Amino acid sequence: MKLIPVKNYDEMSLKAADFIAAQLMEKKDSVLGLATGSTMIGLYGELVAKHKRGELDFSQVKTLNLDEYIGLSSSDVQSYGYYMKEYLFKHVNMKEGNYHIPCGVCQDIEDECRAYDFLIKTLGGIDLQLMGLGVDGHIGFNEPGESFIKDTHFIRLDETTIKANARFFEQEYQVPKHAITMGIGPIMASKKALLCANGKSKAAILKKVLTEPVSPLVPGSILQLHPNLTVIADEEALSEI
Ligand code: F6R
Repeated sequence: MKLIPVKNYDEMSLKAADFIAAQLMEKKDSVLGLATGSTMIGLYGELVAKHKRGELDFSQVKTLNLDEYIGLSSSDVQSYGYYMKEYLFKHVNMKEGNYHIPCGVCQDIEDECRAYDFLIKTLGGIDLQLMGLGVDGHIGFNEPGESFIKDTHFIRLDETTIKANARFFEQEYQVPKHAITMGIGPIMASKKALLCANGKSKAAILKKVLTEPVSPLVPGSILQLHPNLTVIADEEALSEI
C-alpha cells in the first residue's frame, strides 16, 4: 500500500485528480471504476478543470460506477446517475454509452446484477478503481456483514449509512433503504485501487481499515490485500493513525 498524506480536502482532490490523469496519460482507453459522495466532488471538479484546460481527453475512457440507490432513476436529483452527470459526465468529452451506472429502477434487480457483472467482464475489468469510505467501513455499498460478497448485489443499507447520507436529503426518511452495488470481486481484481478519505468523521474507520485485521465487518479492510492500493487521506482522516 502507498499512503499519500495531504493537508486537507482541496489537496486530496488535486492529488487524486493527478493520479487519475496519470492513469489516462498511460492508457487513454482506461476503464475507470467511479464513486460518488462528498469525497469525490472536489476531485471531479479538478478533472473537469484539467479537461477544460485541454490536459485531459475522455473520448476513449469507459467508466463503471460502484453503486446506485434502489428506486431512484438517473433523472432523480438524489440519484448517483444524476450526480455523475452533474459533476463529471456533462462537462467532459465522454461518449454516451461509455459510462455505466447500475440501474436502480430495473424491474428485475437480480438480472441487473448479473448483467452488470457481465459488463465488467466484457470491458476487461477495471484499470483504476476509485473509492471513498463509509463511516461504517463500506466501499461501494458493500456493507458490514458475515462475509465479503464477490458479485454485484442488492443490499439493505446500514442505519449508519442512512444517517450519514441523510445530509444530502431534506429529511432522513427520504434516504433510500436499499441499493445495488458492485461486489468486492471486481474491486479487488482492479489493476490499481485509489481510496480517498477526508475529515474527522473518517478517522476512526480509516484506522480500522488500514491497520486492523481484515474482516467483513469492516469491508474496506479487504483493501489491505489489494496488490496495488494507493490511499490519499487528509490530516483529519489520518488523525488516529
Ligand atoms: C458512493 C460510494 C460510497 C461512498 C462513501 C463515502 O458511490 O461508493 O462508498 O464513497 O459512502 O461517502 P462520502 O464521500 O459522501 O463520505
